[in-house]
Amino acid sequence: MHRTRLDLFGLLAFGLVILAHPNWSCETTTSTTVTKDWWENAQFYQIYPRSFMDSDGDGIGDLNGITGKLEYLKDLGVTAAWLSPIFTSPMVDFGYDISDFFDIQPEYGTLDDFRALIKRANELDLKIILDFVPNHSSDENSWFVKSVNREKGYEDYYVWHDGKVNASTGERQPPSNWLQAFRGSAWEWNEKRQQYYLHQFAVQQADLNYRNPLVVEQMKRVLRYWLDLGVAGFRCDAVPVLFEIEPDADGQYADEEVSGLTDDVDDRKYLKSDLIENRPETIDMAYQWRVVMDDYQRIHGGDTRVLLIETYAPPAYTMQFYGNRSTAGAHLPFNFNLITVLASDGVSAGSIKTAVDNWLDNLPAGRTPNWVIGNHDQRRAASRYGTANADAMNMLVMVLPGASVTYQGEELGMTDGEISWEDTQDPAACNSNSDIYEQFTRDPSRTPFQWTSGTNAGFSTASKTWLPLAADYQTLNVDVEAAAQRSHLNIYKTLVELRKSSLPLRNGSTKYGVVGENVFVVKRYISGSASIIYLANFASKGVTVDLYEFDKTLPTHLTLLIRSLQSSKAEGSQFEVTGLSLAAGEALVLSSGSSSRFD
Ligand code: NOJ
Ligand code: MG
Repeated sequence: MHRTRLDLFGLLAFGLVILAHPNWSCETTTSTTVTKDWWENAQFYQIYPRSFMDSDGDGIGDLNGITGKLEYLKDLGVTAAWLSPIFTSPMVDFGYDISDFFDIQPEYGTLDDFRALIKRANELDLKIILDFVPNHSSDENSWFVKSVNREKGYEDYYVWHDGKVNASTGERQPPSNWLQAFRGSAWEWNEKRQQYYLHQFAVQQADLNYRNPLVVEQMKRVLRYWLDLGVAGFRCDAVPVLFEIEPDADGQYADEEVSGLTDDVDDRKYLKSDLIENRPETIDMAYQWRVVMDDYQRIHGGDTRVLLIETYAPPAYTMQFYGNRSTAGAHLPFNFNLITVLASDGVSAGSIKTAVDNWLDNLPAGRTPNWVIGNHDQRRAASRYGTANADAMNMLVMVLPGASVTYQGEELGMTDGEISWEDTQDPAACNSNSDIYEQFTRDPSRTPFQWTSGTNAGFSTASKTWLPLAADYQTLNVDVEAAAQRSHLNIYKTLVELRKSSLPLRNGSTKYGVVGENVFVVKRYISGSASIIYLANFASKGVTVDLYEFDKTLPTHLTLLIRSLQSSKAEGSQFEVTGLSLAAGEALVLSSGSSSRFD
């Protein structure tokens, strides 16, 4: 667990009450009187537009496809859907390389299609959030072309540098040893301008220069433009890499030190990234975007426009995005702990506890936690956590306090697609080779969404979809799961209903911990209501637990509300807390009351 100065600041200055119990259980008391704003208990749902629904038969998902499926999201109980980039792009990084920030990628549709999407979403009372990609543009963006040509006003739009001359060979070389995220140097020589430019991602994704006020203003214009078109906020991409260290007095950039993590010199992990990530200026920029959101609401009215920040950084940095006592920050910096901690420590009740501690212990008082188990950059949740734990993880993010995020298909228990080297599309993999690409590829979680058991899983009528389908689409799809009595989908929907109707889940305090060898427990409670208790056995064998080890105030019996697919127990049945048996992978949501009704 990271112990930082921010923890202390957060704990002492803001007075967050965390009562740490020895080793196994923690308790967090949150304010129960404050009315929550819409995003604080929201069910966010990430759509990867290229793979959600294809309306025109070209094998690629599109906006009209999404519009046609908004009712599905409504039915799921989603509050707000965030769309991965839909803007004009050469698609080197599938939309994260934007050539026109103000228009729609033609294969996805038009601005009118987008207006129709917003209109339908408004009718259904669904909010739409867009992906804001502030760090870089495509090298085909007119800003970049103008910058290459040193056109007035665009000279310093990107991070340009002459490079260095190698003392022994006399040859020109990049300004520093910095590496891009997709393997290889972060500097690319531009013949026309006769300078290097910086790209933290692919060569075609040139880093914008945030030390240029014109760039800062231009990107705020991007935010206001889409707010005018009716979006409810933004997921902000790759924020920690916005600023890099400034050149020294001689105009030179320092080299990153070797990290000691790997000897693969092409891979970014080989170097520390202290100079190119997690800079203080970046935090301030997020605060400036928050001002844009708040001003917009003040001028135009309506609900709060939210900022969700993508950041894979240590808590001391990440938590600063939440703002401080004098300045509002982002509403939610994404909490990826359930992804990152479980990837390094393994899938177990203990590592889940570490992941939850790590967020809640560091969270500044009065801020809203959030829980993410997957996205388009990770292998699918059911594949990473094990298919047996698919429901347990969906339940977990909904019983923990705050907002939850679902990546499309998690509600179905969708698993990774298998993509051959020949079919590989992701630049992170294409920049490697056929022997090692599977370490880097993000294609397996981007395969088409599974709607039906029919052709292309009902995603498209094309003869070939942009990525092949995952193998399990005939059993894991919306049609089959909606019709089944018990399915991941139906369990998910019941959870959302419970979450909407349950006061302890919405506003209650939280106690959590590990019982037995590998069972994670969460209790949500508030005075005057029955408590909600979540239990999940992450072991590969059955176990019987005594919940009094976790909480002596529990009643003698608990009533079953919701159970994972593995469970053969009956909803409404009562279970003794001192001897509760759980099968491998079994996860339960129980009530301390005697009623199983929650609608
Ligand atoms: C993070 C996005 O989620 C990822 O898909 C993308 O490749 C990088 N940022 C660069 O924009
Ligand atoms: Mg299409």
